[in-house]
Amino acid sequence: MARIIAGVASSHVPAIGAAIDNKRTEEPYWKRVFSGFEKSKEWMEDAKPDVAIVVYNDHASAFSVEMIPTFALGCAAEFPPADEGWGPRPVPVVKGHPALASHIAQSVILDEFDLTIVNKMEVDHGLTVPMNLVFGSPKEWPCPVIPLAVNVVMYPPPTGHRCFMLGRAIRKAVESYPEDLRVVVFGTGGMSHQISGPRAGLINSKFDKAFLDNLSKDPKKLTRIPHLEYMREAGAEGIEMVMWLIMRGALDDKVDEVYRFYTVPASNTAVGHIILENKRKAAGKHERKLKLKRAAARVKADVRRG
Ligand code: DHB
Ligand code: FE
Repeated sequence: MARIIAGVASSHVPAIGAAIDNKRTEEPYWKRVFSGFEKSKEWMEDAKPDVAIVVYNDHASAFSVEMIPTFALGCAAEFPPADEGWGPRPVPVVKGHPALASHIAQSVILDEFDLTIVNKMEVDHGLTVPMNLVFGSPKEWPCPVIPLAVNVVMYPPPTGHRCFMLGRAIRKAVESYPEDLRVVVFGTGGMSHQISGPRAGLINSKFDKAFLDNLSKDPKKLTRIPHLEYMREAGAEGIEMVMWLIMRGALDDKVDEVYRFYTVPASNTAVGHIILENKRKAAGKHERKLKLKRAAARVKADVRRG
């Protein structure tokens, strides 16, 4: 059976992508941001997921204002990087997992979450920047990805509670998939930021840090935050954080927080990042190696005994 082993949340600022693409990661401003993801890359290297479900928002790249699905699940075999105005980012094409994605669509829709099924879609920085942050910049992404695009750009976005419950339904779907797959769910966007208007540049570290604490220990509390509170406390674009609740809903009630990072600012945004592991997590690379070693030693001992 497939299992969700962990959740990863990260901001998805486009300027972070530009810093990577223009080789500016060693500049002090950017080094501060990227150094916070070194441990995460190690963690990811060890966790080696078979599939990633990446919850993100499209920024009028794949969907224009003419059509804005609330929840859109990418069921295609591949998702090319979108042209966001400066040409597509020089990142690998994202390979999908159509079989698992279709299974999730079937399970979740029959559980009364009316997803939009997407069979052709380009993906923007909302998805590719968090992938760079935790996978680095490989020639090919190390695992297939199922994109789940959420509308947080035009009111009304879904509520935090709806997002959390969708996460629960995704978990049920994954756990009814017969193949042994180790799945990581990403929640992207946030943290506090406002890009335009009189409050442009707004950042509220107190709100963000409390959000991280509750995401880890008391996520149900976060599901009750109304849209107006996100707007008031975390700025007009702070609503992106409801996407983190889909990731959290897909995890156990009690999780192990294995890593957290927070820095201000990157572009106009407070950058937050957290890794939460399910307690019944599937073994990582090192644990698997250790198990194999022990099994080999047992076989040797049996052979010696005859
Ligand atoms: C910025 C942040 C975002 O999350 C985004 O999608 C676009 C811009 C910014 O900080 O400029
Ligand atoms: Fe964004």
